[in-house]
Amino acid sequence: MKNAFFVAIAFTVVPSLLLIAARPVAPQSAATIKAFLDSDCVSCHNKESWVANLSLEGEFTQIGQNREVLEKVVRKLKSGQEPKTSITGVKLEPARRREIVAWLEGELDRNAPAYTSPPGLHRLNRTEYGNAIKDLFDLDMDPTTLLPTDDSTRGFDNIAGALGMSPELAATYVKAAATINHNVVTSGAGTAIGKKLWVCRPTSATEETTCARRIIANIVTHAYRRPASMDDVNALMEIYQSRRRDVVNTPYYFRPPGAFEPFHTGIEAALREILTDRNFLYRREVEPPNLTAGQTYRISELELASRLSYFLCSRGPDDALLDLAARGQLRDPVVLERETRRMLADPRAEALSKNFAGQWLNLRSLERVAPLPSYPDFDEPLRAAMRRETGCCRQQQPILVHCGRYREEPDVPVQFPI
Ligand code: HEC
Repeated sequence: MKNAFFVAIAFTVVPSLLLIAARPVAPQSAATIKAFLDSDCVSCHNKESWVANLSLEGEFTQIGQNREVLEKVVRKLKSGQEPKTSITGVKLEPARRREIVAWLEGELDRNAPAYTSPPGLHRLNRTEYGNAIKDLFDLDMDPTTLLPTDDSTRGFDNIAGALGMSPELAATYVKAAATINHNVVTSGAGTAIGKKLWVCRPTSATEETTCARRIIANIVTHAYRRPASMDDVNALMEIYQSRRRDVVNTPYYFRPPGAFEPFHTGIEAALREILTDRNFLYRREVEPPNLTAGQTYRISELELASRLSYFLCSRGPDDALLDLAARGQLRDPVVLERETRRMLADPRAEALSKNFAGQWLNLRSLERVAPLPSYPDFDEPLRAAMRRETGCCRQQQPILVHCGRYREEPDVPVQFPI
């Protein structure tokens, strides 16, 4: 009897203790969200008074039809700007706020219309080109000395439509390739530059072909942002062989400076080809055949890897990302999130705030503008802090949505003094 009593106590008390520890919030559903809006919001936002031109009255379970309004609601709640609950006179409890926001965001994502814009041909912009050269050869070359500025569309210089190609520009790329090549191929053994390129060094003439194939396949994989195919390597090997033969067949004393050594000269010719190839200069995405207008499709994993990497870091995918994509594992949501976090933690994701957010939020003009004289406290440290704070958002969740206006803590809206 006594035992049964304790057992009963254990069964009733322990679970409720656990529940208290976990601070439970009832799971949300369309019905609970509707009840919340009805009790907390509809007194103002209804179809009679239309406060702020917004009504939250009625059925909001049809997420797809209420996207715009619900996105606004999410923003309002996440920034903690909704009024206090009229019933209790206090703000939403943080756990409940998170639950409501999570449910709404989840439903909005699930009901998001598929993105159908055709990929187009996306030429690397100048920053991306410089990064590509750095990643390929560990070679720091100021891209502004190699290429002209990119045209921009509404302030963005990485939109496919803004990045055309003219005969003059094509010629510039050829020249840039020659300059880079010269720097790379003439770099001595043992330097960082050499290491990335010379993945092997032939010790005899018979080893040259095998080694050249390895070097070319390695560079192609990184330059084209996908595993090198047999066709890629074969085509480039022909160029290598023919240049190499030219040198061999030229007597020493007739060989031009810089084209002295057959193996190096062959590799240099192949490199020049790679650096002017459209697979390198463009982020190419291939549409599946027989698409009908408006039809959506999944981009390939390798295309996904490129998009992710260019978006976050303004550069091509690294080995880890390429490898996951090539093995068809990148799309797994767990892997994708892990990789995204890994890349955001990498200092190279600065590029996201510098290049994307810098253009999106027009942060670049932060360097030039000064506020009205009515803000006498504005000084250079504040300018720097403003820039840094916006940059900091990349480490937070959501990555960009609220970068422009708020910190992450929902109850502390930050007001910038401009
Ligand atoms: C006491 C009246 C009142 C209540 C209750 C109220 N709001 Fe508002 N709401 C306003 C007013 C006034 C504005 C316009 C000023 C502003 O944006 O803060 C507004 C603006 C908004 C906007 C911005 C609309 C836009 O087009 O940008 C959203 C979103 C919003 N409210 C959501 C909510 C949500 C969600 C709730 C319930 C949690 C809520 N409001 C409760 C008065 C109210």
